Amino acid sequence: MTARSVLLTGASSGIGRALALAYSRPGATLALAGRDAARLETVAAACRARGAIVTTALLDVRDAHATSAFVTQAHARAPLEVVFANAGIGAGLDENPADIPLTRRIIETNLLGTLNTIEAALAVMRPQRSGHVVLTGSLAGLRGIPGSQGYSASKAALKALAEGLRPQLAAEGIGISLVMPGFVRTPMNENADFPTPLRIEPERAAAIIRKGVERGRFLIAFPRTLLWGSRLLALVPPLADVLALRTARRAGR
Ligand SMILES: NC(=O)c1ccc[n+]([C@@H]2O[C@H](COP(=O)([O-])OP(=O)(O)OC[C@H]3O[C@@H](n4cnc5c(N)ncnc54)[C@H](OP(=O)(O)O)[C@@H]3O)[C@@H](O)[C@H]2O)c1
Repeated sequence: MTARSVLLTGASSGIGRALALAYSRPGATLALAGRDAARLETVAAACRARGAIVTTALLDVRDAHATSAFVTQAHARAPLEVVFANAGIGAGLDENPADIPLTRRIIETNLLGTLNTIEAALAVMRPQRSGHVVLTGSLAGLRGIPGSQGYSASKAALKALAEGLRPQLAAEGIGISLVMPGFVRTPMNENADFPTPLRIEPERAAAIIRKGVERGRFLIAFPRTLLWGSRLLALVPPLADVLALRTARRAGR
């Protein structure tokens, strides 16, 4: 069954935007959050045009209090069935080891921002003993990638969080899914100066994610070829490092 009351962080762009549209239809209630007001409102208007009732909030997910308020208010309007903790940032392969503030910002957004969203979602789902939380991880979380170490670390931590939470939440009637995309064509990587093999469009990613959530899948990883390739590379760390460093050198880093 397609959920009717859905909340999304990172809805103003890319995968979040495509997901918002994928859930939009008459009878659906969407709570959409992002930081860019103009882009967020454009997405909201497109969702309304498909018949959904939409509320929006400008939200920085690093702000736990604001995230909690957004989720609580959305739940009061329409009890939440699915919460997508999707907001995230990356720096391609440009995370300089000396730039710890950048790495910190990535971890604060991707890991702690997601944790804030999980906390708020569970606060409303626990009493009703139902609901589904979806975390956007990444295939980059399967192993630390040189030049993308903070991003990989944040996504690896989300994987561990989701794996650990899964059985405990199941006992409370709450589902959790971990989305691990490969490359999706979004502003995050559309100007990438490194290879983005098997990159797919955000609409295709959203369709795969929605189907996975509807089937109650825990791991929603795609494309499968890249999943298995990444798993193999993670088993051979020196090879992965050589490939990553060669890619960085070719890009002139
Ligand atoms: N694209 C890929 O190839 C790929 C692959 C694997 C995983 N992912 C993951 O997919 C998720 C969505 O990324 P995307 O590719 O769709 O990138 P995107 O187009 O850049 O969208 C990122 C979204 O996150 C929001 N966001 C960023 N920082 C935020 C913050 N501090 N507080 C609240 N919202 C924040 C952005 O809001 P504003 O723009 O309004 O600031 C935007 O809506 C991310 O978690 C990313 O790591 C992407």
